[in-house]
Amino acid sequence: MVAVHRDWSPFVVSAPGKVILFGEHAVVYGKAAIAGSLDMRAYALVTPRTDSKARMVLPDIGVDVLFDSHTLPLLSGTELSHPSEVEALVPSSISIPEGPGRTAVLTFVYLYGCIFAESDRTTGFTLCVRSLLPVGAGLGSSAAFNVALSATLLQLTGQLQEEGVSASDRKLINQWAFHGEQVAHGTPSGIDNSVATYGGFLKYIKGEPSVNLESTHALRVLITNTNVPKSTKALVAGVRALRDRYPSVVDGILDSIDSVSTTAATLFQSTSEAEETLEQQMQDIIRINHGLLSTLGVSHASLERVREVTAARNLASKLTGAGGGGCALTLIPNGMASGDVDVVARELEGEGFHCYQTVVGGGGVAIARNVDGKVTVEQWLADTMERHNSPADGDDGNVYGRAVAGFATLPAAAIAVLKPE
Ligand code: PMV
Repeated sequence: MVAVHRDWSPFVVSAPGKVILFGEHAVVYGKAAIAGSLDMRAYALVTPRTDSKARMVLPDIGVDVLFDSHTLPLLSGTELSHPSEVEALVPSSISIPEGPGRTAVLTFVYLYGCIFAESDRTTGFTLCVRSLLPVGAGLGSSAAFNVALSATLLQLTGQLQEEGVSASDRKLINQWAFHGEQVAHGTPSGIDNSVATYGGFLKYIKGEPSVNLESTHALRVLITNTNVPKSTKALVAGVRALRDRYPSVVDGILDSIDSVSTTAATLFQSTSEAEETLEQQMQDIIRINHGLLSTLGVSHASLERVREVTAARNLASKLTGAGGGGCALTLIPNGMASGDVDVVARELEGEGFHCYQTVVGGGGVAIARNVDGKVTVEQWLADTMERHNSPADGDDGNVYGRAVAGFATLPAAAIAVLKPE
């Protein structure tokens, strides 16, 4: 049995979302894709309870569930032929919500059952996750949640080292988070949880371990959520049907996308080129990649609108993820004033889209241990929600900015750890 620290202080775990920079769709056919971590993260505050229950509060998706730890199944990982079958083992006392909350509850039951299988279950805790990532937009919100949840459960069962997050900690967190992704998505590629765990820029080829590009570059981007719902499954099937009809034509496009990704990997790793030259080359391959994806039929009028609005200001955009709606990314040159970016964002928001100014390439999962003992879930929640719903003077009017400001109620030392550059 793994030893559990009876006396423990609240801790906070954070994990980033992801954006696919290059190679979506082609990756399905064994080509390279490049993904990067977003500066938009999920934050999990974990506090001790005086009883042995486990409470999970996810205010962004309306979940507040209290689990009686002893009624949760113990899993060695071999009871189920696939993690997504966990539903049959959820205790009848738990009402499983609909929508994204459903997946979160099932994932919790699965990961708790596996990670606590050899541990003392009398450790009661409350886990509250606030996420700055929109759900279902292709920005890896479920992977950020799964990484934060896995790290939380591993920390509670004493399976992580006591300071920082070591390479072996990351490996363990990533493995469990992948199983969480299997509960959520059936057969995920594993790229989302790898980015949320390791951060930075990753090159990914199906069936191979992902390669961290160890890049020193960080990319300023504008992410535009078109708010047009997309079905990844249908879009992937559409590309497959096109390839069945015109194999040599489509294979040529997929090969070109592969070259885009390998060129991007070289650019990310380059230390010799001037920043401006790199930026110019990056803009070129962003435009080329979008064009190639559009010939595969996965663009959408809303995505083309983002491209037009940004192209009018000499900015390069591409769809990111499955396409057919969802999100687009626009590279923001380092020299561009944030006021000018605001102007573009406002124009896009005028079209009914939602924009996030963010940075790609920051750190992966982070843990701030022994956070000030006075931090309670209720207080944290009240403050983040209050700032979210009724901004204080000086807040900038954007919901994302207000939510970020709400996290400032955590001790400064914790924030520094939780948002690694
Ligand atoms: O938007 P997302 O995160 O669902 O990205 C889908 C990426 C695809 O390449 C289209 C599919 C896949 O499984 O890689």
